[in-house]
Formats: sequence, structure tokens, C-alpha cells
Amino acid sequence: MQTPMIDYLNVLLDSCGEDAGEIASYIPELANADPDRLAVAVATLDGEVYVAGDADVEFTIQSISKPFTYALAIADQGLDAVLQRIDVEPSGDAFNEISLEPETGRPRNPMINAGAIAAHALVGGDDAEQRVERIVELYSRLAGRELSVSEDVFESELASADRNMALAYMLRTVGTLDVDPADAVRGYTRQCSVSVTVRDLARMASVLAAGGRTPDGEQVIDPVTNRQVLSVMTTCGMYDSAGDWLTSVGIPAKSGVAGGLMGVLPGQVGIAAFSPRLDPHGNSTRGVRMFERMNHDLGLHLMTSTDSSRSVSRRVEHDGAAVHEIAGDLHFMEAERVLRGFTEEPAGDGPVVVDLDRVQRANSIARRMLLEGVRRLHLDGHDVRIVDPWGVLGSAETGSGELVHGEHAHGGFVPAAFSDVASAVRG
Ligand code: DON
Repeated sequence: MQTPMIDYLNVLLDSCGEDAGEIASYIPELANADPDRLAVAVATLDGEVYVAGDADVEFTIQSISKPFTYALAIADQGLDAVLQRIDVEPSGDAFNEISLEPETGRPRNPMINAGAIAAHALVGGDDAEQRVERIVELYSRLAGRELSVSEDVFESELASADRNMALAYMLRTVGTLDVDPADAVRGYTRQCSVSVTVRDLARMASVLAAGGRTPDGEQVIDPVTNRQVLSVMTTCGMYDSAGDWLTSVGIPAKSGVAGGLMGVLPGQVGIAAFSPRLDPHGNSTRGVRMFERMNHDLGLHLMTSTDSSRSVSRRVEHDGAAVHEIAGDLHFMEAERVLRGFTEEPAGDGPVVVDLDRVQRANSIARRMLLEGVRRLHLDGHDVRIVDPWGVLGSAETGSGELVHGEHAHGGFVPAAFSDVASAVRG
């Protein structure tokens, strides 16, 4: 079976609607980007990455670099030392606002440029070059591949970085910056010019979602630092639209002026989108739409409470049938694991049993995903039997021991979120 995850992401791309907004042009090189590029990626905590669209097209990370550099500054200096230099209050201002707290001279938070330049300068290293080297090395470990700086974008931004220079000199006058302001801006600009794809960003996001641990089990960011970073992303990551974003989308996120958008759902998933045209807040127009729709379809809002119980899915053979034994409560991510188990079934007419004996609860998206998986197994030629003594799938017809046929799985049960996928498959 082919997983519906990727079909869903393709539907998501198709549902973005007309693009609107402008490509960032204050960095001349960014204006050369192809405005029609569109991509999305979803990375699970155990290393699965689903992508659709222009997923291998590189763009510069820009402000999405800020949370990661903030993490490194904390690792190097300790949280208290960093808090003395950079506050954690949402500013409600645009990303490049020239403002500091009047009483303390601290930038309001590390997501706006003033705070991000200060955070960059707090990264340890003998000189500016070593700071950047350590930063790119961290990003690379998080992405799971070696990343590098786009020299064209770097040169272009540095040549027009007057405003950031002004911010850095201002930080220096109030004692918030110990290094040479021009060096700090040069290094910060290099960090913003690192090239990534949505695949990279989704994987980087998934490490934040996993408390700082990579899918290979490497603890790259300390869990408490990771929590600090996610908290600040939640309140300040979307600048002057942070409140609107948190209430309507509910996924801690960071945007970049090259059109990238990264979201982190703690304990669940890392998400990235890319589309270069920006809305008036400087966020990717279609990227924002895709996140809105994902929140709607997949129930990913941070403030939606879910039980944290884990599900287990394992495949055993019994009397010539493949049996998928599932246990625990089912939400989106648990259902994804179940679907992944289904993808192991080669197309054919062998019987498949979906055993929900040890599942007592499933939310609506998990129910829909399971039913879509059952429908696809059936389309692949399998005779599918669902064992559902607790009525988890919400229908008497799917009770214990009943044979489920394709028609049954559609009739009234095709998931809203996956219905476009279903009709695409049916042609
Ligand atoms: O400092 C700048 O202006 C850019 N390097 C980054 C700005 C950015 O990505 C703002 N976020 N949407």
C-alpha cells in the first residue's frame, strides 16, 4: 500500500489557492527567487520525512536560524547570562524594529533582529569566523546533513545591511554587545544565509519537537534549553502576528523572509513549508495557508489537549493472515504509525486483520486515517477484517470479526480531510 500521507501533502499544496504578496526585495538577491516554488514537509520524531512539491529546492534559512542560534548561545553562556542580555517578551513589533527595553537596554526577545544579533554574538568562539563555523555545524547536525552558506545571498544582504548595523551599534552603546558590531552583523548575516530545503527544516523542527534529540538518539540540544527555545518561538516567533498565529494555528513557528516557515509541535511532529511571496507581516503567504489548513485537518493546535498515552502497532502472522495488533490511544501520530505498518503489506489478496482489541480510544482524525488505510488495503486486493470490540471506529458495522469491504469503508466514512485523496485515487 502507498501511504496517504504524501497524497495528503499534495492535496495541501493544491489547496493553497491564488498566491499573493511580494518577494522580499530589501535583500536584492532574494528578489531573484522563483516566486512559484511551493513545498511542504512533515518529519516524525523517529526520522520519517514526508514531502511534497519543490522539496529539494534550496532557499536561505533567514530568521528561521534565530531559535537555533539562541539555543547555542544558552548552551555556551548559560540561560541566566543570556537572559541578562536578551529578554523573552513579545515585542508586538516588526522583525527589524529599532527598539530596546528602555530600563535595561535589552532587546525584547531573541526572535527580532536586535535580539538575534545579540544572541549571535553570545555564541562562543575565538573570533567571528569560528562563531559562524560552530553555528553552521549545529544547524547541520540538526538537519542530518552538511549545510553551507549561500555566498551570493550573504554578499547581497551584507551590502544592504544598514539597518542591522544600526541595531548592532545601538546594542554596543548600551553594553549589550561585547564584540565588534560590524563583525556581529557579518556573522549574523552569514547564519541567515545558510541554504536549506523544507526537508532540512522539517527535520530540524522534529529535533526541537523531540526535546532536542535527533532520530538517531543524539541529544543535540539540552531539554531545558530546548523548552526555552520553543517557549520563545511560541510567543515571539511570528513577530507582530504572534498572537493571531498562536490562537488560529497553534503551532509554535518561525518564519524567514526567503519564504520558509517552520513549525514544531512538541512531542509530535516537525513541519516546514516554502513559498517565497510574503504577507504584510513578512511571513510566507501560502506557507501560512498550509499551516492553517494542517491545523484544521490534522488537529495539531498546541492547546488542543490530548492524552499522551502511546500506541503500539506490530505485525504478526496468524493462520496465514497478516495481523496488525494495535494498542493504546490513537491520535494523528499514532495513526501514522499504524498506516506505516500497513504500507509493509505487498499488494495481493492475502487476508489482513486490523486488531483494535487493545485500543479504547481514537480521535476523529485517527479514525479517518485508519479507515482510509483499510480502504487502500482493500483496493490493493486484500480481504480486510477489523476486530473492534470497543467500537473505536465509531460504527456497529465495524464491530468484532466483521469483514470490511472497500465500499463499506467509503460509505459515510471517507474522512473529510482525506476525501480529496480518496476521490483522486478513485479517479
Ligand atoms: O536580518 C534580516 O533582515 C534577515 N536576515 C532575516 C529577516 C527575516 O527572515 C525576518 N523574518 N520573517
